[in-house]
Amino acid sequence: MAERRIELRSVAGALGAEIVGVDVAGALDDAAVRDLRRAIVDHGVVMLRDQKLDRDAQLRFARRLGEPEVHPIANGMAEHPEIIRVLKPAGERAFFGTSWHTDNSFFAQPTSFTILYGEVVPPVGGDTVWASMEKAWATLSAPMQRFLEPLDAVHSAASAYDPRTTGDAKYRGEAPITYTYSDAIWDEVVHPVVRRHPESGRQSLYVNPMFTQRIAGLAAHESAALLAMLHAHCQRLEFQCRFAWQPGSLAIWDNRSVQHYAIDDYEGFERVMYRVTLQGDTPVR
Ligand code: SIN
Repeated sequence: MAERRIELRSVAGALGAEIVGVDVAGALDDAAVRDLRRAIVDHGVVMLRDQKLDRDAQLRFARRLGEPEVHPIANGMAEHPEIIRVLKPAGERAFFGTSWHTDNSFFAQPTSFTILYGEVVPPVGGDTVWASMEKAWATLSAPMQRFLEPLDAVHSAASAYDPRTTGDAKYRGEAPITYTYSDAIWDEVVHPVVRRHPESGRQSLYVNPMFTQRIAGLAAHESAALLAMLHAHCQRLEFQCRFAWQPGSLAIWDNRSVQHYAIDDYEGFERVMYRVTLQGDTPVR
């Protein structure tokens, strides 16, 4: 941390830092990008205010940090398939990201970083909350850690993107986010319950209520009880930080070590965000 050239201010005890004095649309040299990357990995999520990003600039910046993904279900923008426009029109009741999750844990190689830019935000409300899964892991008892370490969990998009309750059904036909449905929605992948970060080497709990279906090898009632305990533990306030968006705010988080939750408390106001996710790696113990 000592030789860092960027200025960081922690926003909570567990995770999260605001970065000041960096214009991500400007010329960032390789050392600045390296520092930024280390800040994201170390703090789980970083936030920057007063950024001026159009879609091309957001993608250009994203490519400095990794390879943008095209989401297989939630449709990207026509001109920029790697960008999902997370739009909630005023008066719309549907939501996106409004429960605890890590982005795309149902991929065989789940998303590493998410880069979310706020263009139109409500005057109050619409915050995003993140929780540190490193802290969640570290605060479990040693016997529980020993029990969890060899376990795997099954992830899928089946409930989060169920065509009967999402897409046109969810958005009453107004469909600010459109979905492409295919049999891939029912695919299942298996990841370790506890993963080791490929850059920091630190361990994190890697289950989330949106995409984790069950713990492999356990009876259904055992899996349900264990997941309920882990989800409640992961959601402890002590592991969280919260960000109040302004137009021009940017947040970048590391899905390999945090979960997040978009708070849906701004009925009557519009919220327009642009989301880029970056390809990740195969989770390992
Ligand atoms: C997401 O879950 O990726 C969106 C988060 C947000 O809109 O705050």
